[in-house]
Amino acid sequence: MCGIVGYVGTRNAQPLLMEGIRRLEYRGYDSAGIATLSSGNLDIRKTAGRIEGLDALLVRKLVEGTVGISHTRWATHGAPTTVNAHPHTDESGSIALVHNGIIENWDVLRTKLTELGHEFLTETDTEVLCHLIEEAFEGNLEHAVAAALLQVEGTYGIAVISDKDPDKIVAARMGSPLLVGVSEHGGETYLASDVAAILDQTRKVVYLDDGELAVLTREGHEIIRLSDWESHGTSRPIEKEVNHVSWDLDRIERGGYEHFMLKEIFEQPTTIEDAMRGRLLEEDGTAKLGGLHELADVLGNVERIVITACGTSWHAALVGEYMLEQYARIPVEVEYASEFRYREPVIPPNTLVIAISQSGETADTLAAMREARKRGAPVMGIVNSVGSTIARETDGGVYTHSGPEIGVASTKAFTGQLMVLAMFTLFMARRHGMSLLRGREIVAAMKRLPALVERALEQEEQVNRIAELYAEHSNFLYLGRSYSFPVALEGALKLKEISYIHAEGYPAAEMKHGPIALIDDQMPVVFVAPTDSVYTKVLSNIEEVKARGGQVIAVVSEENTDLAGKADHVIPVPSTITMLQPILASVSLQLLAYRIAVLRGCDVDKPRNLAKSVTVE
Ligand code: M6R
Repeated sequence: MCGIVGYVGTRNAQPLLMEGIRRLEYRGYDSAGIATLSSGNLDIRKTAGRIEGLDALLVRKLVEGTVGISHTRWATHGAPTTVNAHPHTDESGSIALVHNGIIENWDVLRTKLTELGHEFLTETDTEVLCHLIEEAFEGNLEHAVAAALLQVEGTYGIAVISDKDPDKIVAARMGSPLLVGVSEHGGETYLASDVAAILDQTRKVVYLDDGELAVLTREGHEIIRLSDWESHGTSRPIEKEVNHVSWDLDRIERGGYEHFMLKEIFEQPTTIEDAMRGRLLEEDGTAKLGGLHELADVLGNVERIVITACGTSWHAALVGEYMLEQYARIPVEVEYASEFRYREPVIPPNTLVIAISQSGETADTLAAMREARKRGAPVMGIVNSVGSTIARETDGGVYTHSGPEIGVASTKAFTGQLMVLAMFTLFMARRHGMSLLRGREIVAAMKRLPALVERALEQEEQVNRIAELYAEHSNFLYLGRSYSFPVALEGALKLKEISYIHAEGYPAAEMKHGPIALIDDQMPVVFVAPTDSVYTKVLSNIEEVKARGGQVIAVVSEENTDLAGKADHVIPVPSTITMLQPILASVSLQLLAYRIAVLRGCDVDKPRNLAKSVTVE
């Protein structure tokens, strides 16, 4: 959450810093700010609200300077006001700092600093960092930043500039991503919390790891470890790999669509194909997942799998549980990462832990994964963001290859996760006795899937008609059984996060244990009802809703004609094998949530209070 961009070079920094945070705005949009150093003077502008507000300030008066930092904020401590917007500064106004993360001991530090005579202007945890750096400053910014950070508990990705030690940016990371951009031609260096911010400048990046501090200058960058600095009061720069980013900028542009979310929904035939590319072995009826090479021995002995994740990724994990248990016959448990990390989990030998995350930076998932590793479990990642922290810290893993997902509501990344889980299931099932013939049938079904997703998307107009009828309702229920239960949960989450309508997902059979009391003629009930092994049971649940006056919207298999006259509306989806069916049903529910949110005038790509990657717990 929050976005950081930095530049030190020979050009005016403002355009680049602004463009960078515009690309990161989906990560947090409570406020925006910029600070530059021009002729030895610090110039700071910031405002509550979106980046357009900051643009307006800068139109009135540009900031100058060839060194600068910028920030877009998702508020944690302190209301989303201009005063609380980053950059923050110290008492003397010499230091400007932007921060992602949470300083957990800010209160103690603030009291200590107040006793030393410091006055605080904001309600943020971040401001203490500026004052700590000011206290420690003896002429060298990186030394002061290092000394300050050694007193801090919590998480941070920070960028700091000072008019007392100009011509450099000092950056440091603990639990919140940061990367250094290496110039293609020399003479300048970039900083970003996400590569998207600087991809139009360079494809060469160095990812910072926790506990590292970087000094960026026009000549390049140096990275040191804070722990070395703590032990010796100084530190020799460490060598780090320069990574090449291969994806293109057009993948993070809207390409004529009204919203990123809609673009991403319609990208799914391609992203699903991309997830499978080079990974299906038709002859052998299995999948080849290169990133699992390091886990080969572990996978040979797995007796139990724990999947941990948050939000939509947790819903993908639930679908994975159905897949792996049904096809590979391996017991699976799915855990909210935020619960798993704190409840002292028992992890018996031969347990594989799988962490699923689109961003690869979700604080709880990362912590759950670290907890599992601490307890001796091997961890596999299913991650979208290449080079993200989770991807780098797992023992092996599979990228979903969905490309950058900008809409805050996850769509293509979710179906990418389902696709990877399906391939992993096939791979494990074949090792656990699934026949070659069955394996080949599954590979064939997977290959047909992108075309079926295209067909599901052709229902957009039908979905839009339904959306028009229900956009003003205040509550929705989503019901499904078996694989369709997590699909119902995900459908409800999509609707609530972007349209602010209260929506709940339940296993359809649970309805009569409580939620049935809610049903009246004002309650739309979305049934996920493909023609599968539990279809007749779902049909009974539909009858129960109709008997109480509820409005039924049913996502059904194309060939199904039973529901005419029972459901109020149907959304047909093509049929495929059980494990892949959730992908098709999910596409319809994404379209439904999207259109309802648009009709209600909501900011679909940047829903209120949310942020794309949740790097605080
Ligand atoms: O990046 P992650 O997949 O780890 O993120 C997990 C959740 O924060 C995320 O799925 C969230 O629920 C989305 N807003 C869902 O659309």
